[in-house]
Amino acid sequence: MKDIIVLGIESSCDETSCAIVKNGREVLSNVINSQIKIHEKFGGVVPEIASRNHVEVISSVVKQALEEANVTFNDIDAVSCTYGPGLVGALLVGVSYAKALSYALNKPLIGINHIEGHIAANYITHPKLEPPCLCLVISGGHTHLVHIKNYKEFEILGRTKDDAIGEAFDKVARVIGLGYPGGPKIDKLAKEGSNNIKIPKTHFENLDFSFSGIKTAIINMHHKNPDVNKADLCASFEATVTEILIENTLKAAKKLNINKIALAGGVSANSYIREQFINLEKTKGMKIYYPTPILCTDNAAMIASAGYYNYINGKVSDLELNAIPNLKIGE
Ligand code: KG4
Ligand code: ZN
Repeated sequence: MKDIIVLGIESSCDETSCAIVKNGREVLSNVINSQIKIHEKFGGVVPEIASRNHVEVISSVVKQALEEANVTFNDIDAVSCTYGPGLVGALLVGVSYAKALSYALNKPLIGINHIEGHIAANYITHPKLEPPCLCLVISGGHTHLVHIKNYKEFEILGRTKDDAIGEAFDKVARVIGLGYPGGPKIDKLAKEGSNNIKIPKTHFENLDFSFSGIKTAIINMHHKNPDVNKADLCASFEATVTEILIENTLKAAKKLNINKIALAGGVSANSYIREQFINLEKTKGMKIYYPTPILCTDNAAMIASAGYYNYINGKVSDLELNAIPNLKIGE
């Protein structure tokens, strides 16, 4: 069978990325231009600045991706891009660029849901992983427990009712003075602390999540008594949110009789969360998957991989494709 090469573009938040992926799972290049340094001083992503920066770098990021993969535009079979969810101005840069490429090259255009992209990152890291499985998508903007029925059908089993988990990590880190982005900083400091602070958890009958109460409890503790050990706060915060993630994921696994669980999204790079999920292999007979760290946070290889599966399943877009900031998975 002829190889299928997809060029992917990701620009939904503060990373401008372009990747070339062969047959959905082999990454030929994955260039990521992160704006973290630019937004750091504001303590979070400033949408207008993000859009302007995407415009400035996108052409050179695409050029570099082609060069590193040692391919030309003529070798590309399809162009995929994230069209939502995300920041509208940021998304529009990638969508417009992908549309122009698709039109100029006369190659199919494939709009990808960013969450579907995060899920596909697992197909790259685990070449033998096939749906059906469960995927826990935990990132700065999303917390979704998803039933992956096949390559194009997804059902959301549970989602956050308030903050996304990464947002809670980032806010806690900011308030206790660790800086932005908070996730990796909490990850590191928690290793020096112990989980000795009791934090109340919010439970739901269904598989939804809530993190804002936990975040507020930690922030209040810090404000009331700034001497509370920060490492212990981090370790206790991580332990509490992980218990909730595991509780809901196991409930879903039991309900659907599935033992394959994939993690995805920026927060799945967290070493404590990974460790606790891996324990489920021994204690509960689960099979746990997660992407390599660079494929956990935003990147275009995952968008090209998802693009490949849409392409071979005949799910292509037309030039009417537009950015949809609040796009839901499965639409
Ligand atoms: O997937 P991503 O790049 O962007 C979204 O789609 O939202 O995720 C970014 C989020 C940020 O909240 C960041 O703090 C978090 O992922 N993150 C982590 C770690 N690395 C990144 N959170 C916890 N532990 C980490 N090691
Ligand atoms: Zn993301």
